[in-house]
Amino acid sequence: MKLTFLSHSCFLIETADHTLIIDPFLTGNPKAQVSADDIKCDYVLVTHGHGDHIGDAVAIAKQNDATIIGNYEVATYCGKKGANAHPMHIGGSWNFPFGKVKLTIAHHGSGLDTDDGFIYLGNPTGMLIFVEGKTIFHAGDTGLFLDMKLIGELHPIDVAILPIGDNFTMGIDDAAKAVEFLNPKVVIPMHYNTFGFIEVDDQEFKQKASASGAEVNILEVGQSYEN
Ligand code: NI
Ligand code: MN
Repeated sequence: MKLTFLSHSCFLIETADHTLIIDPFLTGNPKAQVSADDIKCDYVLVTHGHGDHIGDAVAIAKQNDATIIGNYEVATYCGKKGANAHPMHIGGSWNFPFGKVKLTIAHHGSGLDTDDGFIYLGNPTGMLIFVEGKTIFHAGDTGLFLDMKLIGELHPIDVAILPIGDNFTMGIDDAAKAVEFLNPKVVIPMHYNTFGFIEVDDQEFKQKASASGAEVNILEVGQSYEN
């Protein structure tokens, strides 16, 4: 399994046979180094309806004939825009050809801002992704919650990808507490330093989160983690 950071909350997961992209916000993202046009994938996972997560999902799914995976409202919306979509919801899991996905809670919003007003896209989610014997937890956008203990207990996590940017999500101290609750082997921070309001020092997060014994792996944009 190879995990590549494409900036903000966007990651590419490559297995021997499949490629997944999560939260593909590339167009209009000042930190993105690749264009949505150049993404090749089989599945597009979307944690919630905010523009910096659903982003280029429909365009990428259409150009690749890929399937969007998200909560019922996100998936149905993308389906109506012409993409293949598989609807799920919180607590549910499904076996896909690449492995399993299970949606978790996230404490956040999920409205899509359009010229015609906000479109409600259900409750926001986190995603457990089980591929090639590894368990990845992409927390989406969320505040800290105690049920992270349960998520880590039920599904021992190899890699936890957590927002640390504060303002819209957990900041550094709460994300460090999340690492204690989730008890993953490896932690990768996300959702920081992309634009205003979420500027934080990732080295401070590394120092604080390492106290729980997890390996904190700060990825530069374009850098990969392999396991
Ligand atoms: Ni959001
Ligand atoms: Mn966000």
